[in-house]
Amino acid sequence: MRTSRTRSFRIRPLRRGVAALFAGVLTVAALLAAGTTAHAAGTPLRDLAAAKGKVIGTAVTGSKLTGTYGDIAGGQFNSLTPGNAMKWGSVEPTRGSFNWAEADQIVAFAQAHDQQVRGHTLVWHSQNPSWLTNGTWTTAELSGLLQDHITTEVTRYKGELAAWDVVNEPFNEDGTYRSTLWYNGLGADYIAQALTWAHAADPSAKLYINDYNVEGVNAKSTALYDLVKSLKARGVPIDGVGLQAHLILGQVPGTLQQNIQRFADLGVDVAVTELDIRMQLPSDSTKLAQQAADYKAVFDACVAVTRCYGVTVWGFTDSDSWIPDVFSGYGAATPYDENYAPKPAYDAIAASLGGGTTTPPPTGACTATYSVQSQWNTGFTGQVRIACSGAALSSWKVNWTYGAGQRITQAWNATCTQSGAAVSCANASYNGSVPDGGSVTFGFNASWSGSNPVPTVTLG
Ligand code: G3I
Repeated sequence: MRTSRTRSFRIRPLRRGVAALFAGVLTVAALLAAGTTAHAAGTPLRDLAAAKGKVIGTAVTGSKLTGTYGDIAGGQFNSLTPGNAMKWGSVEPTRGSFNWAEADQIVAFAQAHDQQVRGHTLVWHSQNPSWLTNGTWTTAELSGLLQDHITTEVTRYKGELAAWDVVNEPFNEDGTYRSTLWYNGLGADYIAQALTWAHAADPSAKLYINDYNVEGVNAKSTALYDLVKSLKARGVPIDGVGLQAHLILGQVPGTLQQNIQRFADLGVDVAVTELDIRMQLPSDSTKLAQQAADYKAVFDACVAVTRCYGVTVWGFTDSDSWIPDVFSGYGAATPYDENYAPKPAYDAIAASLGGGTTTPPPTGACTATYSVQSQWNTGFTGQVRIACSGAALSSWKVNWTYGAGQRITQAWNATCTQSGAAVSCANASYNGSVPDGGSVTFGFNASWSGSNPVPTVTLG
């Protein structure tokens, strides 16, 4: 059942100002569109994806699932993959001694946010505990260890996970089997055995083989294709293939959709499981535009194939990406920047999922209203009210130009300066903040003679 999803908005103060004069009354309002870089601007990606019958996921780090990171992870995605927390080295660092804390935390967060969980990963050559990799095992012992590991972990989350990346990265680039603890010790059939054990432990979880550089049609993806075909023919429980998709800027394979389709035609689902698109740093607007096009191409390919289950990004923010640690000089690979501002790639994903607009519209406005409170033969008292609805300000400045020689003599609740006819009033130290739905006012005395027309006010 869906529980609450929080959305919060980060306001860009004073981004754009438009003055408007309302004729016939002593009031002038200046409109300020304020809003919206917000990480939840527009329809959340998860709702767009759901409307297309797709899943959109992100890899997450359990300890970060609070604040803005938690808001985005819970609000924009309908699937989570633990980036590291379910790997063997994480859950059983010492033989027989288990640590499920982060994995449990992620599953609980997902359930609280009506999200699926994609388990990652049961059989891999990397991030295994040292007691396992340093041990000397007979074939029977190794097989028993693997069966116990799979059975224990899959059983723990039985009925709670949508899918498991059962086997991770089994192939070399040329399509031969990777030389690993598992292949060397158990032979190629470790893959079928792992799938069979996982299925026995949780018949409802969808079971995947997951690899990188298998996004396009090539020797490696063809080896994976042949394996899946033979597993299906043997009746081994295989439900899907995961295309990791750790891509490089401008290099989305042209055969991506064709490749997804050929797996689908075998009768399995296809998921893009670890999408990121890295660029040489620093990023710039040209690279970010290319990245947006690349993200869109990947999502478009998935949307185009019915059996493409969905797309998971390998971390949604550049502050939580593995890329800079591993590819020196590269980064900026995710849809949100390091400060959680959505990048052009975010808009491109939304557009691919039917969001329709690439620029989120303003969500609200702040106005400044000038009025004359009282007037006598040589002077008057004026007031400006700044009010926000659907937006907020952290500081403000109001400007106008007098048309009949008026001069400010005194101001309160603002610092006003006048140069010739031009007046500029900025917030005092204590009233710069105007919350959504709130207002502040400041006042002033001024001199006039002849006439006292109301000026046009701008907020900016
Ligand atoms: O947890 C320790 C921390 O205590 C220590 O201070 C720190 C010092 O380096 O290391 C931390 O562990 C790191 C771990 O990520 C958690 O952040 C490891 O060094 C680091 O090697 C590990 O990297 C992970 C990588 O898999 C390992 O191969 C990445 O986070 C993770 O995103 C990445 O994910 C893989 C997928 O599982 C499979 N496909 C490729 C993908 C990218 O490599």
